Amino acid sequence: SDDVSTRRAGVVVVGAGIGGLATALRLAPMPVTVLSAAFLGEGVASAWAQGGIAAACGDDDHPGLHADDTIAAAGGIADPAIVDVVTRAAPGCIDDLVALGVRFDRDAAGRLRLGREGGHHRHRIVHAAGDATGGEIMRALLAAARAAPSITLVEAAIAEEILVEDGRLQGVIARCGGSAVLFTADAVVLATGGLGGLYRHTSNPVTARGRGVALAARAGAVLADLEFVQFHPTALDIGRDPMPLVTEAVRGEGAVLVDDAGLPIMSGLHPLADLAPRDVVARAVWRKRQAGGRVYLDARAAVGAAFPERFPTVTAACRAAGIDPVAAPIPVAPAAHYHMGGVAVDIDGRSTLPGLWAVGEVAATGLHGANRLASNSLLEALVFANRLADDIKGTPPDAARRAPRPRLTLGMDVDESAAMLRLRHRMDTCVGVERDASGLRLAIDDIGSLRRTAASGTLADAALVAELVATAALRRCETRGGHCRVDHPDAAPAARSRLTLRDIAPAKT
Ligand code: SIN
Repeated sequence: SDDVSTRRAGVVVVGAGIGGLATALRLAPMPVTVLSAAFLGEGVASAWAQGGIAAACGDDDHPGLHADDTIAAAGGIADPAIVDVVTRAAPGCIDDLVALGVRFDRDAAGRLRLGREGGHHRHRIVHAAGDATGGEIMRALLAAARAAPSITLVEAAIAEEILVEDGRLQGVIARCGGSAVLFTADAVVLATGGLGGLYRHTSNPVTARGRGVALAARAGAVLADLEFVQFHPTALDIGRDPMPLVTEAVRGEGAVLVDDAGLPIMSGLHPLADLAPRDVVARAVWRKRQAGGRVYLDARAAVGAAFPERFPTVTAACRAAGIDPVAAPIPVAPAAHYHMGGVAVDIDGRSTLPGLWAVGEVAATGLHGANRLASNSLLEALVFANRLADDIKGTPPDAARRAPRPRLTLGMDVDESAAMLRLRHRMDTCVGVERDASGLRLAIDDIGSLRRTAASGTLADAALVAELVATAALRRCETRGGHCRVDHPDAAPAARSRLTLRDIAPAKT
């Protein structure tokens, strides 16, 4: 064990993406320490978000229609009360961001330009800088957070443990450079993002490996909906790791998915065709490719010469690979994109562990059910940031807190490259777009043995989360949303699932 220094932090927010920064800002003037695993603005999926934020802002739109689309995409297990709260709050979130200085795209008359994406029956995607929405929001949030006297931003701080003693949350132990620091806190907010980096093919930063789920699981919090991983149908298929995203908004402008012969692959599969919910489109693309074909997104007729201005991020990624989206179809493949599951939280973002809240992708609020509607993720993070910050402000600090006895085992720097690659490959092949019992058992055996032999640290955490996801997927004997069991192709009535660390084999010590 190592020496651990202690810093009094009040509230600790783990993660500096949109959910974490929005929470810290809303908590002002309460003192907040934000731990960023990388340098600020780096390694966060938020900054890569392309499409935008869904909000019923159009004249033909209403939060109720947004709610209907959210529920229809979610495979029957979205929580209607959460959907109602979030879709109603959406237009106000856009106003808040505008007040913060976010420059959304507007038409000549100054009205918000609204894009469309899969599963939406209206144009309601608010975007910025064409397809660089997340980057623009991060710019504004970071500027505000840096200027806020109540916020302490700590870079290169890797959270390693949520310290719980005698059932009481004490704070977070983080590795800051070479040393370990206990940030004592009355409230801890996990805002660590998702786990796409557990897959070999992902649109996420490869560092997104479910750290928050691992921290919460080890601290004893209940996890929900872990089996529901969303695969984005159109990641750029040019051999890069991670895979650059080709935003759904391209299909929203009319681009069509085609096969090698140029024939549309989505016609006849769903009434919304290329704008069907993401799980439907991802499976169609996956199956074409499994059958040996390739799939392309053809934007030539629908977008053509306007492509570079409307989609500068996608254009840059394509051009770097020698592809001109104005003149040629774009090769695409599915990639692990978003985790619907995570730390089970209530309508105020509270986990089952007193003192622990979670926001954004790491949280399972029930908004997304089995399949998230496009551009509902930044929205969820913003709405819940406000709710849980207000909840924390209303929660009296624990007066009876005793002096904590910090302890820590720093992870040895294992050479993780071969083992991590094996894990990511297993997740792709056995816990991916299509799953069956034998593959899931194989994944649980293989990844479970990795977990039990790994020294603590990154690999152990990644293996823990991957094994939990595979375990949840094995238990759900039906097909629903992002969870496709080829051995159980039909939906069977089943509610949201809950899991804790006790549901997997204990580590041998
Ligand atoms: C995209 O731009 O296609 C991604 C939007 C999302 O993940 O909701």
